[in-house]
Amino acid sequence: MADPLSRLATRVAYGARQLPRFAWYVGHNAVMRRLAEAARRSGEASTREKPRTDAPVPDQGRLYADMAALFRQDLANVEAGIYPLPADHDGPLPRLFARSRLFFEDLPDIHRRRESGEPREVFSEATRGKRPAYYLQNFHFQSGGWMTRDSARRYDTQVEVLLHGTANAARRQVLPPLAEVFAGRDQRHLRLVDVGCGTGRGLDCLKQVWPRLPALGIDMSDAYVEEARQHLRRWGWLDLLVANAEALPLREESQDAATVDFLFHELPPKVRRTVLRELARVLKPGGRLVILDSLQRGDEPSYDGMLELFPQSYHEPYYGSYLDEDFAALGRDCGLTLTRTTNAFVSKVMVLDKPSSQ
Ligand SMILES: C[S@@+](CC[C@H](N)C(=O)[O-])C[C@H]1O[C@@H](n2cnc3c(N)ncnc32)[C@H](O)[C@@H]1O
Repeated sequence: MADPLSRLATRVAYGARQLPRFAWYVGHNAVMRRLAEAARRSGEASTREKPRTDAPVPDQGRLYADMAALFRQDLANVEAGIYPLPADHDGPLPRLFARSRLFFEDLPDIHRRRESGEPREVFSEATRGKRPAYYLQNFHFQSGGWMTRDSARRYDTQVEVLLHGTANAARRQVLPPLAEVFAGRDQRHLRLVDVGCGTGRGLDCLKQVWPRLPALGIDMSDAYVEEARQHLRRWGWLDLLVANAEALPLREESQDAATVDFLFHELPPKVRRTVLRELARVLKPGGRLVILDSLQRGDEPSYDGMLELFPQSYHEPYYGSYLDEDFAALGRDCGLTLTRTTNAFVSKVMVLDKPSSQ
């Protein structure tokens, strides 16, 4: 048990890092909404249907209370010694400002795609056949889809703005269930794969706890893997690969753990099943898969309307089917047991275990 003074120091240090970050992204969110509103008012009459839902939508007070609960949980994990005081590595400042500029510069194009309902600009003669058709879309209406360096540079700002600066805190909620299976084991002899690793923010959180754990990040985007390589330069014992999660380039039963952050809601139902089967194949007996993704319908009934509105404003073609996907049943079909689900603001952590061999 830490003494009161060092506890206070931890809390002050945590607040000093997270509060300005929170304010930065909440501020971006507020400006983005105002700009979108102004663009809608000044533009031609939109042909797009107004987003609608009959389900409950949480008010601002509830949203801020739940964000605060996530930050409190993040701090409690630090105080419990599960992970060190987190560093988000957003800086240095010039880069933070450059990324902010990139984010705002893309808003008019996002608005245009949203209003015209055109989410397939990245599907072209140049990209056709290079990636599966489901992948070649402008997810979130963002320019470049998953295919360009600028998209990769903008992505983290977009996600943090959308989640009001809580994305990394949510990613860190994957760490406690990993700590349980890694406890008492030599990290250098473990293996972990992060599938759909994107720009590497989840791996960064992981490496802050287990710097010598051999970890592999896999993603189908050259641009995002390159961005992850840059971002993760500070860490060793780490590999990054461009590959399709539907056919993981890994031996059977080779991984002690696997993580998948914010990927499953972006996959068509059939691909979701293939990827889960692949994860089950590469996990060792006794291995653990930890999934971080959006809340699903019914997880927090007062959020159901918000979940229904989300894909009506951001291009998320498979989110509707994700909302009702039964991960316990999917896991069972490939030999994994869903052992725990924990909500984390608008996200949740699902823990799926592969039984130890007898
Ligand atoms: C929403 S992003 C999540 C990125 C990251 N895990 C995070 O925490 O932000 C989804 C990522 O999954 C990748 N992806 C989508 N389909 C994939 C597939 N079939 N195989 C590998 N990566 C895929 C995309 O390139 C993108 O980087």
